[in-house]
Amino acid sequence: MCGIIGYIGSKNAVPLVINGLRNLEYRGYDSAGIAAVVDGKLIVKKDVGKLDEVFSKVDISNLKSNVAIGHTRWATHGKVTKENAHPHTDCKGEIAIVHNGIIENYQELKKELESKGHIFRSETDSEVIAHLIEEGMKTKNFVDAFNEMIKKIVGSYAIVAINKDGKEMIGARKDSPLVVGISEDGYFIASDVPSFLDETKKVIYLYDGDVVVVNKKIVIYHDGKPVERDIDSIEWDAEQAKKGVFKHFMLKEISEQADVIKRAIMQDDKIINEIANEIKKSKGVFFVGCGTAYHACLEGSYIFSKVANMHVNVTYAHEFPNYVHFLTPESLVIAVSQSGETADTLEAIRAAKAKGAKVISIVNVAGSTLVRESDKVLLQHAGPEICVLSTKSYTSQLAVLTLLAYSLAGRLEEGKSKLKELIRYIYYLTSRNTRDYIRKLAEKLKDVKDIYIIGRDLQYPTALEAALKIKEVSYIHAEGFAGGELKHGNIALIEEGTPCIVFTSKENEKEIISNAAELKARGAYIIGVGPRNNEVFDFFIKVREAEEANSIVQIIPIQILAYQLAILRGLDPDKPRNLAKSVTVK
Ligand code: AGP
Repeated sequence: MCGIIGYIGSKNAVPLVINGLRNLEYRGYDSAGIAAVVDGKLIVKKDVGKLDEVFSKVDISNLKSNVAIGHTRWATHGKVTKENAHPHTDCKGEIAIVHNGIIENYQELKKELESKGHIFRSETDSEVIAHLIEEGMKTKNFVDAFNEMIKKIVGSYAIVAINKDGKEMIGARKDSPLVVGISEDGYFIASDVPSFLDETKKVIYLYDGDVVVVNKKIVIYHDGKPVERDIDSIEWDAEQAKKGVFKHFMLKEISEQADVIKRAIMQDDKIINEIANEIKKSKGVFFVGCGTAYHACLEGSYIFSKVANMHVNVTYAHEFPNYVHFLTPESLVIAVSQSGETADTLEAIRAAKAKGAKVISIVNVAGSTLVRESDKVLLQHAGPEICVLSTKSYTSQLAVLTLLAYSLAGRLEEGKSKLKELIRYIYYLTSRNTRDYIRKLAEKLKDVKDIYIIGRDLQYPTALEAALKIKEVSYIHAEGFAGGELKHGNIALIEEGTPCIVFTSKENEKEIISNAAELKARGAYIIGVGPRNNEVFDFFIKVREAEEANSIVQIIPIQILAYQLAILRGLDPDKPRNLAKSVTVK
């Protein structure tokens, strides 16, 4: 996800655009930039880093303009570099664009434009937009050239474009959000409402396929014909608006998981297959991570075993020093980390590199240290995760690991279609009526002291992750363990009414139900999560069978349960006590 904004009007556009980007930084923060029209010329200032870092590096003190566009980036195509930062311009620097989304056919467009003499400065997909408009303006005006460009690109986009004349600003959207803000002294076109909420609460939500042209007035086209769109008024304040309709980032990010899986599938097949080949070539693979990322590693080892018939070693990053002496230059360490800044994980990969081993990382934050220190990177594209708890980044990691396992088995397309089938179902799992149903369980559990969670096979790491979600956000003690471990000690903990969550699947239903019966026999309150209800369950959450993708769908109801327990206990789910979003110290 990236944040884009443009302003045209009677005020100085530069501070309005920069302030707008500041309110969009939750959408991405690995590079930023601005383009402004000054005396018939386009001035572009951009660099890598967070917003404040960038605009302290580049000099914008004398940048005054009535038209400007800006961008804060969440890298999808192309590394985090100054050249790849937006805005992007055409060859002559007379057209500037900012873009949020993925242009799927950019390689062929780029080749065609290069054959016509266009010179590209970046490795991004977005830059083709500026050159397509430039090509169109050889025979058309700015608006018509923009409309012609829209017809040529395939993929998801929210675009804002200006040119050196500074007479109009144009925006368009498909599958990426774009809104228009209407203030007394001008117009905004932006990814989201927070960007201009300090200036106006009057907003038009554009539809997919809309093109909006703003100069002295605003005209919206759909399929080339002018259309009317309602002007809404926003009731939120800026902070609230960043969460959209959600009260907390945690629920917003849980609800984004269908899109996150969609974006994980849109990975570059080339990168997936390349990394799968590295895994195949290596002698000894280690998955390392911490917390939720470790649970993804553990889950990944089960998926690799089942789908690719491959054994991988798994260890907490902070325990990795106990294994470093096994490493050789043929070893491969795969580090999993949302933030890419976890000190233990960084230390593990540095130790691995010191032994000559290769390091590949699965990371969400593109500009992170882990990305810079890895030999190869698989970006999760999950968008910024603001809540301290990892939710969407966990299911995104599982999706990426599943694709890797299928690629190793030579069945990548099959893996992608399996994940694609989940997308609609995950919308259902994160819907209001699922949340209302789970809230009934949260009401029952909100005052308990302990919650135990069991699962077998793929559901064992899910049990560990479920316990971590519940304990770190509601402060209720929760412990996950393998169903088979019950009689080896844990069952001593069960008393009358002890709540136990039991994950089931088609494959291990018989064994895990007998574990549930043993718990029930000692008075436990049994909550079943899986494809089929059973008389042993006192509460049942149905989650459709998804085989090795059970790990993705079955965790979602417990993420929601954890969130609701925190709310019912009067806690802030986004900022749990004693925790930080990224543990950058050992
Ligand atoms: C999980 O909800 C926690 N936020 C924490 O365990 C986290 O997963 C862990 O600190 C690893 O963080 P990383 O993925 O950024 O490396």
